[in-house]
Amino acid sequence: MSAPFDRPLTADATDGLGRDAVPLASGAVSPQAGDDERVVESALRPHSLADFIGQPKVARQLDLVLEGAKRRGRPPDHVLLSGPPGLGKTSLALIIGSELGTSVKITSGPAIERSGDLAAMLSNLGPGDVLFIDEIHRIARPAEELLYMAMEDFRVDVVVGKGPGATAIPLEINPFTLVGATTRAGLLTGPLRDRFGFVGQMEFYEVAELQQVLARSAALLGVELTDEGSAEIAGRSRGTPRIANRLLRRVRDFAEVRADGRVTREVARAALALYDVDELGLDRLDRAVLEALVVRFGGGPVGVATLAVAVGEEPHTVEEVCEPFLVRAGLLARTPRGRVATEAAWRHLDVPLPRGGVPLLGGGTAVPGGTGGAPPSPGASSETLFDA
Ligand SMILES: Nc1ncnc2c1ncn2[C@@H]1O[C@H](COP(=O)(O)OP(=O)(O)O)[C@@H](O)[C@H]1O
Ligand SMILES: [Mg+2]
Repeated sequence: MSAPFDRPLTADATDGLGRDAVPLASGAVSPQAGDDERVVESALRPHSLADFIGQPKVARQLDLVLEGAKRRGRPPDHVLLSGPPGLGKTSLALIIGSELGTSVKITSGPAIERSGDLAAMLSNLGPGDVLFIDEIHRIARPAEELLYMAMEDFRVDVVVGKGPGATAIPLEINPFTLVGATTRAGLLTGPLRDRFGFVGQMEFYEVAELQQVLARSAALLGVELTDEGSAEIAGRSRGTPRIANRLLRRVRDFAEVRADGRVTREVARAALALYDVDELGLDRLDRAVLEALVVRFGGGPVGVATLAVAVGEEPHTVEEVCEPFLVRAGLLARTPRGRVATEAAWRHLDVPLPRGGVPLLGGGTAVPGGTGGAPPSPGASSETLFDA
């Protein structure tokens, strides 16, 4: 078997941003899974649709797709799951396999280096199997073209020989379901996207949904978690189950060492303060960026490179690690002239609003309380997290 087959069944193949993990000032609220985290994650993964919390639209639609396929006795349409890291794409892919009672073969776009690897993988699929390709937008072009025919006709062309004498031999493969996951649906080519019969767009979770995730995880981990404790953690988890679960584990450690093991509101607060995760889920670096913008640069506009120097970080770290969430939380805006803090940023940092008002997103200033510097609605304009 080729190398991509050898991946463990539960591992996320990449960091989700499509490259090696970015070094973080504090990993507590990174949406990517760390290496040692993957084992814990697999223990916390839901195994059926009934167990899968939130994402009501995707879950209901998927339920119908799977139910219909089961009744017809044929594999369902190919499924594309898109959305930011940590929202449950890999979990859903595995659930599709278990709901269908078939096995799931796992690989990822970057792991498929040659189209021959993919051809071997496809011809090894049993009838009705699920092939999960994580980070599918990173698949190499020749492999992608091979995938088109496989998805449409359950056939692959195997090229025998080299140069002018090479011939393509068509090879039948078993009907299968491709499940693709991507954090960057916008990077998918049209022809590939068109071959998915079902596209599920994953959304960030509500606090109440994250509380359900936390309650479930706490039960699995044997942690006693009060409602208030879980509200405290959920509110700081950036709408992301992976972060909620990670914060729960850190708070549990604190509870066991410094308290009686129960995760109450006070314990959660003290633990999260120790780990530098604030009420909105900002970590130390996020706050440093925001503080530099508000205090040193009077709210901006300021270029990202200057901002990065001010906090002693690489510009790409500021841009790709901190900014997406600051934008989504309505604290920072990206404008053609540079980064600008919104009025909410001053309030969050508890810094008095400037006399002349907050710099307007399009230039000029707005008086405090006016509408000019109003934060964009959460989720409206995050560029890195939702570039679908
Ligand atoms: N809907 C959900 N219900 C319960 N737990 C979830 C849910 N979505 C994600 N999780 C948890 O978050 C972790 C990360 O989810 P994962 O499927 O790996 O996300 P993605 O593949 O989108 O990055 C999983 O281990 C699981 O414990
Ligand atoms: Mg994943």
